[in-house]
Amino acid sequence: MEHALTSPDAAASRAPGTPASPPASDVVVIGGGAIGLASAWKASRAGMSVALVDPAPGRGASWMAAGMLAPVTEAHYGEEALLALGLAAAGQWPPFAAELEEATGMDVGYLRCGTLLAAFDEDDREAAHELYELQRSLALDVDWLVGSKARELEGNLAPGVRAALWARHDHQVRTRALVAALEAACHHEGTRFVTDKAVELLTSAGSVSGVRLASGGELAATRVVIAAGCWSGGIAGVPEGALPPLRPVKGQIIRLAPPPTSGASPQGVTWRLIGRTVRGIVMGAPIYLVPRSDGSVLLGATSEELGFDTSVTAGGLHDLLRRAHRLVPGVSEMVLVDASAGLRPATPDNAPVLAAYGVGSGVDGLIVATGHYRNGILLTPISAVAVAAWLTGSEPPAAILPFGAERFGVGAH
Ligand code: GLY
Repeated sequence: MEHALTSPDAAASRAPGTPASPPASDVVVIGGGAIGLASAWKASRAGMSVALVDPAPGRGASWMAAGMLAPVTEAHYGEEALLALGLAAAGQWPPFAAELEEATGMDVGYLRCGTLLAAFDEDDREAAHELYELQRSLALDVDWLVGSKARELEGNLAPGVRAALWARHDHQVRTRALVAALEAACHHEGTRFVTDKAVELLTSAGSVSGVRLASGGELAATRVVIAAGCWSGGIAGVPEGALPPLRPVKGQIIRLAPPPTSGASPQGVTWRLIGRTVRGIVMGAPIYLVPRSDGSVLLGATSEELGFDTSVTAGGLHDLLRRAHRLVPGVSEMVLVDASAGLRPATPDNAPVLAAYGVGSGVDGLIVATGHYRNGILLTPISAVAVAAWLTGSEPPAAILPFGAERFGVGAH
């Protein structure tokens, strides 16, 4: 599985009129979502020349994500290593946001709002309480609130809400502001944006040597980072086993603005449905409502395994609106701004793949940072730190070590 890069000899024999190959970079990053952008930023900041390839940077899953930084309320049975990774990532968020804001002068909307996970009926209360017991057994800082106490925190919760779990350290970031800031930070550090699709990883003598583009050109580099979300598996030339299977999991999400009669404006918000992230279990089904500082609210998200379909469906929106209304009835007064769908990149165990391939792997110089599923925004800082560490020859954070590809019985680490 080896491919020759355009060599000086090949360039000399190029047909007249064929465009010259762009200059080689130290690194090509495939994928301009939050993780690819943050990795490119860190690598550029470390003094490397970086080309980032994406047909529409920042407009994939990151653009759709609500931006919950929620290691605790996303914790599930048997996912202790993922929880530890998420907690480590959550700890990196304040300095990461501050560094990015300082570098760009742009506000990324990192908000320490906490998360209330509310239970609608008695069965939901039991399910939420099981989750609470799991979280307590893992020494997480959560409180159990009866319904009246939950309504003291969030006055617009439905009177019937039975109980809630209060996760005071699960916060949020404004994802579209984050993406814009990361793009600006990359530009500032000299990252070269290549608006194209990487279709093939190129190798030479057991090492990566660049990527081939859909337009037919090639980008030369001795390091390639694959951070292309659920499209990562579609890149030719990646040896079988370097990546586990990745599947897209569709999430439909709704954006709501304050009612026109509320008097709210981005400059001076006078109306708020909720002040903190409200997640819920409503008749066994999940929902979340993420409030922004301008009074708008994101409602998410469905979880559908339908391949690469991103259609927005009446049924999906109905499910979200019905659950949200049951939990916080005032949601029905809000104005529908838009509804859209993104694709979460999921691996067989729903945890990311963070791996660097070395000598003897056949793809020396390949780095993989993908498969972040429901936690891509949360895991952005720690993934970028790991990628930058591999690129600069230093040690990645210990919390990422369980997430190599070899856990799927594939991959040469
Ligand atoms: N982390 C929220 C979601 O994936 O919908």
